Amino acid sequence: MRIALLGCGTVGQAFARMLAEQGGTITRASGRRLVIAGVLVRDVHRPRGGVDPSLVTDDAESLLADPDIDLVVEVMGGIDPTSEYLRRALEAGKPVVTANKQLVSRHGAELLELAASSGTELRFEASACAAIPVIKVLRESLLAAEISAVTGIVNGTTNYILTEMSRSGLSYREALAQAQELGYAEADPTEDVGGADAAAKMAILASIAFHTNVRFDDVPFEGIDGVQAEDLELSRDLGFVLKLLGIARLAHGGISVRVHPTLVPEGHRLASVMGPDNAVLLESDSVREIMLVGPGAGGTETASAVLSDVLSILGTAKGSFLHNALVDAGRSLIGPDQTESPFYVRLNVVDRPGVLAQVATVFAEAGLSIKSVIQRGAGDGAQLVLVTHVGSEAQMAAAIAAMREMDEVRGDPVLLRLLADGAA
Ligand SMILES: NC(=O)c1ccc[n+]([C@@H]2O[C@H](COP(=O)([O-])OP(=O)(O)OC[C@H]3O[C@@H](n4cnc5c(N)ncnc54)[C@H](OP(=O)(O)O)[C@@H]3O)[C@@H](O)[C@H]2O)c1
Repeated sequence: MRIALLGCGTVGQAFARMLAEQGGTITRASGRRLVIAGVLVRDVHRPRGGVDPSLVTDDAESLLADPDIDLVVEVMGGIDPTSEYLRRALEAGKPVVTANKQLVSRHGAELLELAASSGTELRFEASACAAIPVIKVLRESLLAAEISAVTGIVNGTTNYILTEMSRSGLSYREALAQAQELGYAEADPTEDVGGADAAAKMAILASIAFHTNVRFDDVPFEGIDGVQAEDLELSRDLGFVLKLLGIARLAHGGISVRVHPTLVPEGHRLASVMGPDNAVLLESDSVREIMLVGPGAGGTETASAVLSDVLSILGTAKGSFLHNALVDAGRSLIGPDQTESPFYVRLNVVDRPGVLAQVATVFAEAGLSIKSVIQRGAGDGAQLVLVTHVGSEAQMAAAIAAMREMDEVRGDPVLLRLLADGAA
């Protein structure tokens, strides 16, 4: 089987290395010999560890048009021109494996349709949580399990930062700098810390879990760049651990998918996932809970998922039912303002009699019921920390707007969501 490798950076080089090292095992297991027949890059002069320089080209046209290529592995990233390259490969009936979450979360459904109509396959295990085989588990093992919720720590950079802030009392900036030093965060960390990376992965996971086309643009997201050390400390006092969670659930006859910093009860399985690890908790009546944990990034880890997709393609004959894993089940996406959770709100207030009662009235008028209140400090430094029962985003937005109008409330309220069963 002759492979065109599009991209030869961190993941591409690890893939080439793995193929060279595992060639014997792969041939024994699959009966086929996998050969890299061409490697597409931008800069042909840069050294590519372990790759024969004579295979390296910047001529995409020739590589894509080569009739001797049997399969395309895409590890170059980005949307343009990548999406066009993959379209052409699929139209030519060539199976494609990609690690590209940006592309799959935006154009996955069209590409899968194209693959099906051309009688070939598109696989994208590495696009969500790298080495953790979550897509394969959802798409194959749990295809008929009627998944009701997918809750995940799907970004290792942010989990590392939050772990360090909580463990060592570092500020967000200090923890980010440490993550960059150790290679857990990119020089430009915006995609990770702003939540977009997690939103792309959740769009992919929700699409597979709920047999519905969920795109990146359908997923409201909030990152950890606004998280303050103070709230980590307060939430610990309240018995919670702060995590950047992706939450996808069946709710109100539709689907809700979102990403935001979330307070997770200390005893919850996801609370114990520390450092750069990823974890995905899958829930369904038939299998109850299955949690997958492991490395969510890294060259070798990602290449391992790419290679496993290539081997699956060798193992599944054309026309496999797995082509249709994204078939639309007709579910709707519920609006972001209808999603629900309990809320944590921290307010700086003027320490005056009656302020708490006024705040409580604002919550009651918005239809939110308060579960607990802590008052900290006095005078100008007085703070109220309120935790509510389950309410909707729309209700919380109304309460926040009303609090911003109160003379007794100083600055912007800090708002966090809590992880809770049964909320939409
Ligand atoms: N790294 C990870 O831990 C990880 C984890 C999960 C998923 N992924 C995904 O895997 C993919 C690759 O990531 P990576 O970390 O390996 O990226 P990378 O190190 O930046 O490598 C990208 C490769 O693609 C080539 N390339 C980019 N644009 C190109 C274009 N227009 N034409 C031709 N070649 C082009 C680059 O060529 P030059 O070298 O000549 O610039 C480079 O060889 C991305 O989709 C990423 O999201 C990565």
